[in-house]
Amino acid sequence: MDLKLSTLLCLTLLFSTILNPALSELCNPKDKKVLLQIKKAFNNPYILSSWKPKRDCCDWYSVTCDSTTNRVNSFTLFSGGLSGQIPPQVGDLPYLELLQFHKQPNLTGPVQPSIAKLKSLKLLRLSWTNISGSVADFLSQLKNLTFLELSFNNLTGSIPSSLSQLPNLEVLHLDRNKLTGPIPKSFGEFHGSFSALYLSHNQLSGKIPTSLAKLDVSTIDFSRNKLEGDASMLFGLNKTTQIVDLSRNLLEFDLSKVKFSKSLTSLDLNHNKIAGSIPVGLTQGDLQYLNVSYNR
Ligand SMILES: *[C@@H]1O[C@H](CO)[C@@H](O)[C@H](O)[C@H]1NC(C)=O
Ligand SMILES: *[C@@H]1O[C@H](CO)[C@@H](O)[C@H](O)[C@H]1NC(C)=O
Ligand SMILES: *[C@@H]1O[C@H](CO)[C@@H](O)[C@H](O)[C@H]1NC(C)=O
Ligand SMILES: *[C@@H]1O[C@H](CO)[C@@H](O)[C@H](O)[C@H]1NC(C)=O
Ligand SMILES: *[C@@H]1O[C@H](CO)[C@@H](O)[C@H](O)[C@H]1NC(C)=O
Ligand SMILES: *[C@@H]1O[C@H](CO)[C@@H](O)[C@H](O)[C@H]1NC(C)=O
Repeated sequence: MDLKLSTLLCLTLLFSTILNPALSELCNPKDKKVLLQIKKAFNNPYILSSWKPKRDCCDWYSVTCDSTTNRVNSFTLFSGGLSGQIPPQVGDLPYLELLQFHKQPNLTGPVQPSIAKLKSLKLLRLSWTNISGSVADFLSQLKNLTFLELSFNNLTGSIPSSLSQLPNLEVLHLDRNKLTGPIPKSFGEFHGSFSALYLSHNQLSGKIPTSLAKLDVSTIDFSRNKLEGDASMLFGLNKTTQIVDLSRNLLEFDLSKVKFSKSLTSLDLNHNKIAGSIPVGLTQGDLQYLNVSYNR
C-alpha cells in the first residue's frame, strides 16, 4: 500500500475513534446486553451502579474481559449486595471462566440451571449464600472446571456421583450444607489432578465406600457427618495424603491395623468409635497433629 494512503487511513481511524467513543469500546455488545439484563434481574442493585450502558463494560465493577478477545471472562462479587435468585441470563456469557458469588446471604433459589451452558468455566464458587435445592447433576457437564466450591449454603439432597467425571477437577468443596445420603462410590475414580475433597459439616451417612482406597489426594475433610464403619481405606503406605479430618462421625474400626503413609502431617479422628492402639508407623513420618480423643 502507498505510504501516504496508509497514513491517511490511520489518521482517519484515529479521528473517528476520538470523535466516536463507541468505536473505542472494547466490550462485546452481546456481553453488554446480557450483563444489563442480569443487572435488571437483580433489581438494579447499588453494587452494580457502575454498570452503565454508556460505559465500556470491560471497565465495569466485578467483571473482566479477556485481553485478546475482549469477551467477558469473569464475574466476581465477594461480599454482599446481591439479592434474589441467580438469573438465567448468567448462562448467556459463553466465555465466562470464573463465576464467584461469595458472602451473599440474600442470594436465594437453586444453583441456576443455565450455568450448564458455561462450557469455558474453570472456577465456580457459590459460597456463604442462601442458595438451596440440590447439588445439581449438570455441573458434571462443565468439563473445564478445575475448582468447584458450593460451601456454606443451604443445599440438600445427596451428592451426585457424576462429579467424579469432571476430567480437570482439582478441588471440590461441598462442606457446610445439609447434604444427606452416602459418599458416592464413584469418588474413588477422580482423575489424576484431583487433590482435595471437602465434605464436612453435612449429614452424610452410611459407610465410606471401599472404592475410596483408590483415592489419593492431599486433603480429605469428612468431619461432622454421620459416617459409620471403616475408614482404613483412606490410608495406605503408598498414598501421598497429608491432611485427614474424620472427626465427629460414627466411625468404628481398629486403628492398630491401619497402614499410614509417611506423608501424613495432620490426622484428626476425635469423636468417633475407633478402637485399638496407635500404630508405630504413624510416628515415623511427618505427622505434626494427631487427635484421637473421644474414641474407644
Ligand atoms: C440483605 O437484605 C436485607 C433486607 O433487605 C438488608 O438489610 C441487608 O443489608 C442485605 N444484606 C446484604 C449483605 O446484602
Ligand atoms: C434464607 O432463606 C430462607 C428461606 O427463603 C429465609 O427464611 C432466611 O431468612 C434466609 N437467610 C438469610 C441469611 O438470608
Ligand atoms: C477448555 O480448556 C482447554 C484448555 O485450556 C481449551 O483449549 C478449551 O477451549 C476449553 N473449552 C472451552 C469450551 O472453553
Ligand atoms: C436455610 O433455609 C432455612 C429454611 O428455608 C432457613 O430457615 C435458614 O435460615 C437457611 N440457612 C441459611 C444459612 O441461610
Ligand atoms: C506400593 O508401592 C510399591 C512400590 O511402588 C509396590 O511394590 C507395592 O505393591 C505398593 N503397595 C500397595 C499396597 O499398593
Ligand atoms: C482434640 O479434639 C478435642 C475435641 O474436639 C478438642 O477438645 C481438643 O482440644 C483437641 N486437641 C488438640 C490438641 O487440638
